Amino acid sequence: MKRIAMAALAALALTTMSGIASADTIKVGVVGPFSGPFALQGKNFKAGIDAYMTLNGNTVGDDTIEILYRDVPQPDPAQSRALAQELVVKEGVQYLTGFYFTPDAMAVTPLLEQANVPLVIMNAATSAIVTKSPLVVRTSFTTWQTSTPIAKVAYDRGVSKIISVVSDYGPGVDAENAFKTAFEAAGGTVVEAIRMPLSTNDFSPIMQRIKDSGAQAVFAFLPSGPTTLGFVKAYNQNGLKQAGIQFFAPGDLTQESDLPALGDTAEGILTTFHYAVSHDSPENKTFVEAAQKAIGNPAELSFPAVGAYDAMHVIYKMIEATGGEQDAQKAVDAVKGLAWQSPRGPVEIDPETRHITQNIYLREVGKNEDGTYYNKEIQTFEKQGDPGLAAAK
Ligand code: PHB
Repeated sequence: MKRIAMAALAALALTTMSGIASADTIKVGVVGPFSGPFALQGKNFKAGIDAYMTLNGNTVGDDTIEILYRDVPQPDPAQSRALAQELVVKEGVQYLTGFYFTPDAMAVTPLLEQANVPLVIMNAATSAIVTKSPLVVRTSFTTWQTSTPIAKVAYDRGVSKIISVVSDYGPGVDAENAFKTAFEAAGGTVVEAIRMPLSTNDFSPIMQRIKDSGAQAVFAFLPSGPTTLGFVKAYNQNGLKQAGIQFFAPGDLTQESDLPALGDTAEGILTTFHYAVSHDSPENKTFVEAAQKAIGNPAELSFPAVGAYDAMHVIYKMIEATGGEQDAQKAVDAVKGLAWQSPRGPVEIDPETRHITQNIYLREVGKNEDGTYYNKEIQTFEKQGDPGLAAAK
């Protein structure tokens, strides 16, 4: 017995010394809203992860990938940081990912270097997050990236006076600045800029202010979820649509999973975004099939799933490049400049910013023959980087 144990120990030492990687379990910690009002967004994270692992397997080299989920239902930086810490210290995760809300991602960036863990952001969209640590990579979008093109679209369609309405936190402030910068550069005027508390759910007073502003149109950003559904409904119920006040926004406002509840309220709304479920490509067909199967109800599929799917691609590449060893800087360096065909179209991790360069699509909410609604891509703004990071320089 003793001799066998000694031999096993010696073999283990030899493997370690010669640097030959042994088969391990690599843990990936996912933080997101898996319960509460934003649970559907978290469910989309999981659908994207499941789709990726169904199509690509749950091993990289000799290593088996294990996913650990932690729930932060609403923006809560303290809870997010505590759960990330628990994942790193108690569970020994080698990668952190997920993060729907900006404040939750921001709270975790100070932990990364000491923990030797990369953070691959599946959603949080404030430009500055990637500047908070060299170990952050993002596969979603920024609201600078998605709100800049819609300003040009609004101006080109004859709008010269617009009112801006955003949620008062990181991605909302970024959206307001992005829109104003591009709209004024085109020649238009933002007549009023309203910032609403994130917790706002009665939008009638805001709708009255929009009507009173004399603007021809409204630009709006809120984080996708019950918030966006309520806002677009209020736009209709308060008579703004009938009054001819047009609606422009990034695609968060017409996510596919909201369209059944919005019905003809959303029809014709123009948004710009990095992804539409209807995107016509072989990669997207494969993705949508797998992700709809994973989520169960196909109508629930929305953009956080594609951010999650691509985050898994990045994490698999990181694991490949490090041979499964825990070396966060090496892992991040390995994906700088990584380019691939995402379900959304061609993408690349910008080697300087570690944010994703991608096409942004102009989409119009249209009606299928069966009476359901979808985001129809009608124009492409190719290879968009993040104007927010450029503006901050
Ligand atoms: C964010 O908090 O960064 C965020 C959340 C939901 C969105 C966009 C941005 O739809």
